[in-house]
Amino acid sequence: MRLPAHRDRFPILADCVSLINHSLAAMPATAEERLADYARAWKTRGIRAWAEGWWDLPQTVGDQVGRIIGAPPGSVVMHQNVTVAEAVVLSCFDLQPPRNRIVYEEGNFPTVRYLYQAARGAEVVVVPEGEPLQDAIDERTLLVPCQHVLFKTSEIQDVEAVVRRAHEVGALVVLDCYQSAGSVPVDVRELDVDFAVGGSVKWLCGGPGAGWLYVRPELVERLEPTLVGWQAHARPFAFEGELEYAPGVARFLTGTPNVPALYAATAGYDVIEEVGVERTREHSIRLTELLTELFTEAGFDVTSPSDSARRGGTVTVRTPAFEGVHAELAERGIVCDFRPETGLRLGPHFYNSEDEIRYAADQIAEIVTTGAFERHLGSAARF
Ligand SMILES: Cc1ncc(COP(=O)(O)O)c(C=O)c1O
Repeated sequence: MRLPAHRDRFPILADCVSLINHSLAAMPATAEERLADYARAWKTRGIRAWAEGWWDLPQTVGDQVGRIIGAPPGSVVMHQNVTVAEAVVLSCFDLQPPRNRIVYEEGNFPTVRYLYQAARGAEVVVVPEGEPLQDAIDERTLLVPCQHVLFKTSEIQDVEAVVRRAHEVGALVVLDCYQSAGSVPVDVRELDVDFAVGGSVKWLCGGPGAGWLYVRPELVERLEPTLVGWQAHARPFAFEGELEYAPGVARFLTGTPNVPALYAATAGYDVIEEVGVERTREHSIRLTELLTELFTEAGFDVTSPSDSARRGGTVTVRTPAFEGVHAELAERGIVCDFRPETGLRLGPHFYNSEDEIRYAADQIAEIVTTGAFERHLGSAARF
């Protein structure tokens, strides 16, 4: 089966060329049905819906994410977003010298950087671009919150080397898989990371509000998060006054879950499981290789890695006046985005075709050659 055969399951693809899967992937039509299921349960089952599945959603949905990232059942829980998931991780530790260092790459996603910068007692070490993260990890390092695929340049990181060094000195790795899960194969057990986090708006096609947290099973019962709530209690419906942590990964939960978001997200995960991340990756490599080739032929500066083995799902390219090119592309129904340092970002998914790639590359070259970008200069884009 050719992968673009799945296109008709994503209504928006009939209206535009969507190459923005590193930011917001297309919605599967089934997400709308799942949201209707949620509304029906609320309307007809009312309070009984909690016992009929709603209360357990952070773990049942977490298990589905687990299947996609190689995590065993009972090791993933759902949160609203990556920020909250990492805040729960951070809350497990005392930031006391001599082990209070947080080491991460300069290109880390800002929300993660902000979280650790704001942590009282943390000594943050930022590793400059191009330098190996593992070289900055030592006995003073508590946590290494790093990305699997860098969000700006789509470069795949040498996670094995980071984990090896971290474990050698007793530090723990929190791997942000937002830019890999669903596009680049992730196996958290094989990578031997201590925690992994991600969300669902991008390659997982699951929409906003469905972040996830994996905790290495061997660590679960040794940790006691201080960002905690009644879903993390051993007996939440006993309404006891004193905290007793739930056994297992439930202890990493907080309060009432985001039920509608979790309903919607499973529609995306279902398609990802059906298509398979390995097949998606093969298709993605074909399309991103083609894009790289076409941009290079056109004389543009490709800022994502040229080696497919090191490139995630996105190609980044610096054209002249790329902000204006981006605005003109949007008017022509080609949806992508840009980042100030790296230029345009184009991230095809399993439902994109080679024809769309050629069309987008042609249009970009034409916009640059004819100066069609000029009328957009000075107007700012937010996403
Ligand atoms: C690598 C990475 N981490 C985190 C985020 C976002 O974090 P949050 O889910 O807290 O909004 C993004 C993008 O939105 C990202 O690309």
